[in-house]
Amino acid sequence: MPAAIILGGQWGDEGKGKITDALAPTAAMVVRANGGSNAGHTVETPDGVFKMHLVPSGILNPDCICVIGAGVVIDPIGLANELTGLEQRGVDTRNLLISDRAHVVLPFHMAIDRYEETLREERSIGTTLRGIGPAYADKVSRRGLRVGDLLDAGAMRQTIEHQLRMHGQYLESAETDIDAMLESLSAAADKLGPSICAAEQRVQDTLDAGKRVLVECAQGVMLDIDYGTYPYVTSSSPSAAGACQGAGIAPMQVDRVIGVFKAYSTRVGSGPMPTELHDDTGELIRKRGREYGTTTGRPRRTGWFDAVAARSACRLNGVSEIALTLTDVFDVFPEISVATSYQWNGQPLGYVPANLDDYAAVVAEYQTTTGWLQDITGARRQADLPAGALAYVRSIGDATGVEVSMMGVGPAREQLIHLQ
Ligand code: IMP
Ligand code: MG
Repeated sequence: MPAAIILGGQWGDEGKGKITDALAPTAAMVVRANGGSNAGHTVETPDGVFKMHLVPSGILNPDCICVIGAGVVIDPIGLANELTGLEQRGVDTRNLLISDRAHVVLPFHMAIDRYEETLREERSIGTTLRGIGPAYADKVSRRGLRVGDLLDAGAMRQTIEHQLRMHGQYLESAETDIDAMLESLSAAADKLGPSICAAEQRVQDTLDAGKRVLVECAQGVMLDIDYGTYPYVTSSSPSAAGACQGAGIAPMQVDRVIGVFKAYSTRVGSGPMPTELHDDTGELIRKRGREYGTTTGRPRRTGWFDAVAARSACRLNGVSEIALTLTDVFDVFPEISVATSYQWNGQPLGYVPANLDDYAAVVAEYQTTTGWLQDITGARRQADLPAGALAYVRSIGDATGVEVSMMGVGPAREQLIHLQ
């Protein structure tokens, strides 16, 4: 069986963790493809709520091998702590593999992230301050430290010394203390060591054996470094193509691309968002959807579903089906709107333009329908749903041109309905 990709179709936080957790029992392996501890994946199981940053959401399924792929940037100290936290709650983490090609986020990358955000002044991106951009910058500048290097103290010192020659002039002395850094990295390396391997070979072995591999992206395609709202983006490719690259699989090995979308829009950090609501409706979505960042605790910006951006995301990523999450948030809404077109300079515009001034000037046009005004959190099958809720989900399928195959009606594992 080939690979399936699970990606975020909007600005992240669509509930990818829940979908990965739901599909993990059908897969032999879950591979995380991009991003780092900027991500926060929440999964609710009968054992409680788990918030993962680097560990793939499949870890809660004991039969699943979990891989952190080459496309991820890893804070080894944070990852070691995350594993210890999971182990303390009885989760078996021995099934974790870490690509020796993945790059390392060092403590000074976080300092640089903070420093750059200050320099940007009113044009700050609103990053998660987890050092993600600076770590990817060192990677593409070919001076990055890779996870495999953690096992070689000499190589590690040499690479970090080189990075500090590059960055040292704007860091505080505490941030350039290489001995202290090596000490904490070595402790983390002791914990992670048994998992570090040529992970992409194991991914290919699994595919060769005819087993299902799930590739889990972090963030969302509107934050993609190439096709997102640059520069208000993350520093990786949360796209279907990025999933292949980050996991070590070929496009021809993929047969499903599951685009996870919320029934509305949210965004954390700066940058245009044409359907944003600054009123009580936006606040109600935030409250009912518990829209506060998993990683930073920041309140998320909220707005109506943007079908123009979604259609564009589906096209660019070959999304073959949509998982629509958090539909129950609308249970108390008498009316629900969806942006179905944009007007720009008095003309219709069918995609997200590269120029952000243009995008900021876009006016979203809406179609509004009446809500279902009924609690759907207890629904478990399609037949349990009120006609209005089903009609809303179908309207998202029509507006995006991609069928909705799954629908979330609450955070728990069983609150996911497979649609016919
Ligand atoms: P960075 O990835 O920390 O560099 O942040 C860049 C932008 O991406 C900021 O707007 C962040 O809020 C956003 N971002 C990064 N990771 C996530 C995520 O997991 N969910 C939602 N937004 C994210
Ligand atoms: Mg998140």
